[in-house]
Amino acid sequence: MTEFITASKRTIDPLEHASSIVPQIEKGLLLTTKANERVNTMTIGWGALGTVWGRPAFTAYIRTGRFTHDQLDVNDEFTINVPDAQTARKILGVAGSISGRTTDKIAELGLTLVAPEIVSVPGIKELPLTLECRTVYRQDQVQADIAEPYRTKFYPQDVDSSSCGANRDSHTMFIGEIVAAYVIE
Ligand SMILES: Cc1cc2nc3c(=O)[nH]c(=O)nc-3n(C[C@H](O)[C@H](O)[C@H](O)COP(=O)(O)O)c2cc1C
Repeated sequence: MTEFITASKRTIDPLEHASSIVPQIEKGLLLTTKANERVNTMTIGWGALGTVWGRPAFTAYIRTGRFTHDQLDVNDEFTINVPDAQTARKILGVAGSISGRTTDKIAELGLTLVAPEIVSVPGIKELPLTLECRTVYRQDQVQADIAEPYRTKFYPQDVDSSSCGANRDSHTMFIGEIVAAYVIE
């Protein structure tokens, strides 16, 4: 059983913080999951912050072969953590190149898990801006419907699912309603 610490948090409006969240997406964020008492984190570089059904939402795109995808099949809540320092580079590198299937990345990176407010998944103290998300819609992308050149470039059919980069697997889009947002202090 993974330990969570309690920490003080400064509540924020996620959309008012769009200018600090959105430019960071392409540089890398952490998406954390918890299923069967196992916490795992992975780096994401695609995503969107916005509004769906009148609620603030973060949309993530996870390839079907990721361990994270297996975790979301069991528990579709997730947290997003946004880095605020260069030190996050190493964290994003490891979380984006090793699978939770083979390694406990939380332990490997010495990350501090912070007890969440609403969802069951912790935030990560080292990347303080946290969005707690609950999936309200998920959809598998249909490769035949993806425009060229993106279909060929991002879904090479001769690269198997274990590759951390582009591979043959489609993405599933997870729209997460943001049910709590804060900076861990
Ligand atoms: C900068 C960066 C951005 C990434 N963005 C995504 C992404 O948006 N979706 C995805 O499925 N994989 C993405 N990856 C790859 C995963 O982070 C990587 O395959 C990771 O090892 C998956 O971990 P898991 O198997 O524990 O879920 C990215 C990797 C890096 C380095």
